[in-house]
Amino acid sequence: MDTILKAENIWKTYGSSSVKVNALNGIDLSFAKGRFYSVIGRSGSGKSTLLYVLSGLEKPTRGNVFFEGKDLSEYPDGQMAVFRRRHMGFVFQQYNLMEEYNVLENICMPLKLDQRKPDSGFLHTVLETLGLSDKQKKYAPELSGGEQQRVAIARSILSKPKIIFADEPTGNLDKKTALETLELLIGSAKKFGQTLIIVTHDLEVARMSEAVITLEDGRVVK
Ligand SMILES: Nc1ncnc2c1ncn2[C@@H]1O[C@H](COP(=O)(O)OP(=O)(O)O)[C@@H](O)[C@H]1O
Ligand SMILES: [Mg+2]
Repeated sequence: MDTILKAENIWKTYGSSSVKVNALNGIDLSFAKGRFYSVIGRSGSGKSTLLYVLSGLEKPTRGNVFFEGKDLSEYPDGQMAVFRRRHMGFVFQQYNLMEEYNVLENICMPLKLDQRKPDSGFLHTVLETLGLSDKQKKYAPELSGGEQQRVAIARSILSKPKIIFADEPTGNLDKKTALETLELLIGSAKKFGQTLIIVTHDLEVARMSEAVITLEDGRVVK
């Protein structure tokens, strides 16, 4: 197995001495390059926390996360943000689009922050794949929820991250739109060889994945 991401004995405790929440309790996981994983479990079982720790958005209280063999804790905070922008993509339930920028500008923003320009052929492919070619000049409020989420997906794909983290990415969409949007996300991640980790409570989505990680009280149970 060609491992891209590895979590070793991860613990995450929120809060101070008086009120503590043990969100993750000793997690060991390995993720292979180019595969599609789903993370399921009840509300409060630690799914979002796991995603934040795996992506370096949150530091584990104990344990280590390795991205292509390198320990994330070795990156100073400032470098971590840049590292994330270059190698990781994120799709959240909230689309987090910037309303004062149009679709094209939103999609290109992470690259722009790095003074990089999108490869125009690849940009075209991503826009086509996600059905956004004729929406480039539109602004977020002019788009449906499904379209906005596709913009967020396009944005996460365009910088060619090696791994994409999605936290209940279609939770705000109706069933049909949710499924279509997920199929696009899954299809494009496969097409571009990206590892995909999706948090979902939809068992249908979990069934589409190549491996299911089930969390219960901050532990992997299956
Ligand atoms: N920033 C935080 N501060 C304190 N407790 C938190 C914080 N984030 C999450 N938690 C707690 O950690 C546990 C796991 O939360 P979370 O990872 O959001 O679960 P899930 O995504 O599966 O619903 C919950 O008990 C939650 O209340
Ligand atoms: Mg959550």
